[in-house]
Amino acid sequence: HAAWLPPEAFRSLGARRVLVHGDGPLVDTVLDEVARACARYGGRMWHSPSWDVDVDLVLTLRRADALPSSTAQAARAAGEAALIDDGRTLGDEGFLLARAGDVTVVLADAPAGLLYGLFHVVRLCAAAFDPARPPELHRPALRRRMLNHWDNVAVHPVMGQVERGYAGGSIFWRDGRPRGDLARLRAYGRLLAASGINAISVNNVNVARAEARLLTDRLGDVAEIADVLRLYGIRVHLSVTFAAPVALGGLSTADPADEAVRAWWAATTRAVYERIPDFGGYVVKADSEGQPGPFTYGRDHADGANLLAEALAPHGGVVHWRAFVYDHHQDWRDRSTDRARAAYDHFTPLDGRFRTNVVLQVKFGPVDFQVREPVSPVLAALPATRVAVEFQVTQEYTGQQRHICHLGPWWSEVLRFAPWGPGGRTIADVATGEKGEGGGLVAVANTGDDPFWTGHPLAQANLYTFGRLAWDPRLDPRAVLDEWMTLTFPPSATADPELVRRTLHEIMDDSWRTYERYTAPLGVGFMVHPGDHYGPDVDGYEYSRWGTYHFADRDGVGVDRSRASGTGFAGQYPPYWADVYESPERCPDELLLFFHHVSYTHVLHSGSTVIQHIYDTHFAGVEEVEAMRRRWQTLNGMIDPAVYVRVAERLDEQVRSAIEWRDQINTYFLRKSGVPDAHGRRIY
Ligand code: GCU
Repeated sequence: HAAWLPPEAFRSLGARRVLVHGDGPLVDTVLDEVARACARYGGRMWHSPSWDVDVDLVLTLRRADALPSSTAQAARAAGEAALIDDGRTLGDEGFLLARAGDVTVVLADAPAGLLYGLFHVVRLCAAAFDPARPPELHRPALRRRMLNHWDNVAVHPVMGQVERGYAGGSIFWRDGRPRGDLARLRAYGRLLAASGINAISVNNVNVARAEARLLTDRLGDVAEIADVLRLYGIRVHLSVTFAAPVALGGLSTADPADEAVRAWWAATTRAVYERIPDFGGYVVKADSEGQPGPFTYGRDHADGANLLAEALAPHGGVVHWRAFVYDHHQDWRDRSTDRARAAYDHFTPLDGRFRTNVVLQVKFGPVDFQVREPVSPVLAALPATRVAVEFQVTQEYTGQQRHICHLGPWWSEVLRFAPWGPGGRTIADVATGEKGEGGGLVAVANTGDDPFWTGHPLAQANLYTFGRLAWDPRLDPRAVLDEWMTLTFPPSATADPELVRRTLHEIMDDSWRTYERYTAPLGVGFMVHPGDHYGPDVDGYEYSRWGTYHFADRDGVGVDRSRASGTGFAGQYPPYWADVYESPERCPDELLLFFHHVSYTHVLHSGSTVIQHIYDTHFAGVEEVEAMRRRWQTLNGMIDPAVYVRVAERLDEQVRSAIEWRDQINTYFLRKSGVPDAHGRRIY
């Protein structure tokens, strides 16, 4: 399945006369795209001709040798003028789109910019050739826009080929070997580039034995992937185990202070760059959920991260050091330990101690990718550290790609959140950095060897949206969704494009909030089935070692994380939000149970009581999913039948599962509280 790059998306480009000027592997990628589009739709392509040609579109490098073509020269001059007026430069990945007479020109300083410019023209369709189109300059807000694949090389006995993967096997690996499907890999790189992603890690953050060896004797497998993805401007990164010097190097220790350990990392990293000169760097999950780390040697996370950073620095690489560190052997009887606090407590004392090529990779929320959490206070607490925000595109806690849950609005909300108070710097600003030195955005991938890439065909939109928001976090998620659907379901491929668009918006726009309505209420989270995390199990984690509780009793529910009487987590925020979250009166409804334990009769800002809110949202959530299914049925015959059927099947499961959620949650709280539903609906 072609996802957001079906041939029809190239119709407008492919029907035109196109001149491409420039050289190099990425320019060859552009040439290949244009040539295929023109072959299909009757257009014509020239590559740097030495004679004058009349064209509709010019894609050219700004500093390439002067073009003899007068059209191209005019185009370049127009572009340059627009650029000078704007006073900005294009950078490694930026591009300018301008009209020069009858010609649309895409101008870039580097080949990657030309590729992004090409995909922009594709996105715009006919609008790219509108004579009245004013010049536009595009540069990514974030330098690194990264995907993490939690793919195992060998099949893990519990987690399978892809940890938390809901789209079949891995694109890279199968049964301990490289998959070797380079055509599919190339198609993947192409999709990622068209969404704006430029970095990828190719193995799970939980690094087992086979995966560890990718760093050394199996490096060739990684180089093969890098060779393909490089053609789309994507750099490859590797998840490594902190214990590598022992596990692979035969040393007796992995202590960061040990000279032999430092020498091992330096030599090993040098060998990686000899093989993969544009290698991105390492991703590390250390002292987290059983992974080895510096604590074993009495060292801290800065010592650990700096060890790897030192090895990478001479080659321009970075280490993504994950902040997902907490006690996963907690005693539920101990009310003083709070998992939400852990990352802040571990990492804020280390601010200023990380080398400049360390990126601290922080999950967007303090717990674990729930459908609703407050934004992690860690993101605002390390001003002297490069910080990346980590999202989860794979829908571990948001319906596992059996449910429609479009996450764009949620991520956008997180990126726009101003941790120092309204009007101040935002999370997007933190990821960008004041001078562009921020850590960027990272997301756990949702793709696999499934024919639709993502299991649920509509889950493709989450990946596309992640890439686009990483390019520009200010984009309106609804507009991005619109782009995605116009590309994926091109107007020329359906009888009634307006109906398709409208229906998809009705189904997807609010689907994240719908999912929230029928699952754990008011930010409390983690009422999922332990282990696989699919479906409801209200008390599944209530007495567990993972530190994920809701504390429901006959009087009320929620976790007291206030400073006054709870775990003190609210105090980890800068003053404005610390005060808001501290107070049950001021705390936003949707986070109330994350921060406070309140009685069932507590009145929300919405005017409803907590218990009535639980009932109402769960009934409403199911009704909304049923409406989604009805709406989808109206598209039967209008779109690709394979997509239609796959989504229809999954909607049946979503309806079933939403009903199960509704009935378990409502029944649980009715039994606990004894408070009947004000509307007398059926609760069991
Ligand atoms: C979650 C997920 C794990 C994963 C972990 C992580 O806890 O369930 O499978 O390994 O996050 O982010 O490292």
